[in-house]
Amino acid sequence: MLKDQQGRQIEYLRLSVTDLCNIRCRYCMPVTGVEKTARDDILSFEEITRLVRVLVGLGVKSVRITGGEPLVRKELPRLIHMLHSIEGLEDLCLTTNGILLSEMARPLSEAGLQRVNIHLDTLDPERFRHITRWGNLPQVFAGLRAAQDEGFDPIKLNAVLLKGFNDDEIISLARFAAEQDLVLRFIELMPIGPGRNMKSQYLEAQYVLDQLSEQWTLVPFGKTLGRGPAEYYKVVELDSVVGLIHPVSQPFCDRCNRIRISAEGKFQDCLAYQEPWTLRDLIRTPGLGDDALTEAIAGLLKLKRADHGGFLLPQCTPTRGMYGIGG
Ligand code: 5AD
Ligand code: SF4
Repeated sequence: MLKDQQGRQIEYLRLSVTDLCNIRCRYCMPVTGVEKTARDDILSFEEITRLVRVLVGLGVKSVRITGGEPLVRKELPRLIHMLHSIEGLEDLCLTTNGILLSEMARPLSEAGLQRVNIHLDTLDPERFRHITRWGNLPQVFAGLRAAQDEGFDPIKLNAVLLKGFNDDEIISLARFAAEQDLVLRFIELMPIGPGRNMKSQYLEAQYVLDQLSEQWTLVPFGKTLGRGPAEYYKVVELDSVVGLIHPVSQPFCDRCNRIRISAEGKFQDCLAYQEPWTLRDLIRTPGLGDDALTEAIAGLLKLKRADHGGFLLPQCTPTRGMYGIGG
């Protein structure tokens, strides 16, 4: 089992399959000035599968496919199928904005996908259009229904908490999630990419707890769901579970078990730092066998940073939005 220098076991990979997206959430992706990645620079499905196989050999148990928007990557179910066949991989899931999910839920499930997370910041179509710049909320609802029909379980909803935007929807989002039998999580806005210029809209996750507890009885859930850092509460009256992800107000670096690989093969040990490490050049090195690849990756895993200190350290300069890192 591979541990880093802090004794943390690395078992969760967030794998970006594209840096493209079909919407432009204001905190994530600018409308103009997005550098276009050359096609050849994006890892092929075969390259991705080889990397994941090596990482599973090093102790990774869970892979979350992400983007950009992963469903815009052509033939994604073929990759899911390839990853699903890797022995030792226990959990294969995907994070999507839901726009294309109504047509993709079935082929993804057939290929072996087990779970999906859908991000949804608001239940209001006009607000949704505003925050995503042109997104159409009914498409997301259709995608959600298709995912439910496919039997993905649990389905989680992710909402980025934004002051003056959706802080008045905490109760309605919680009600909606409970009615639909979904696990809702609120995520603190991180100073990453365009989010760096939105600090005035940042709101601590504690605000969600305060709002929910004014209305209902909250009891700490006592266990985690999946392998992520969310802290869960049971909402007694709704018979539902709500999660809080608070990387800024209460960093969870000491129990961080994850690494990221971007669509072009950049290895990212922590969201908060931009590293030049690329696995693409490594796996494209002629004659480099799996043993040498494993050794090189094990070396990188050991270098995982201790923490980001709430994104307050001067070295934290993530200028590219989550779309390019693998949110
Ligand atoms: N802060 C917090 N969450 C973000 N996401 C994208 N950018 C940010 C940010 N700056 C979220 C998306 C989605 C996930 C992939 O990352 O809303 O839930
Ligand atoms: Fe696209 Fe997700 Fe970024 Fe929104 S948060 S722009 S859906 S990648």
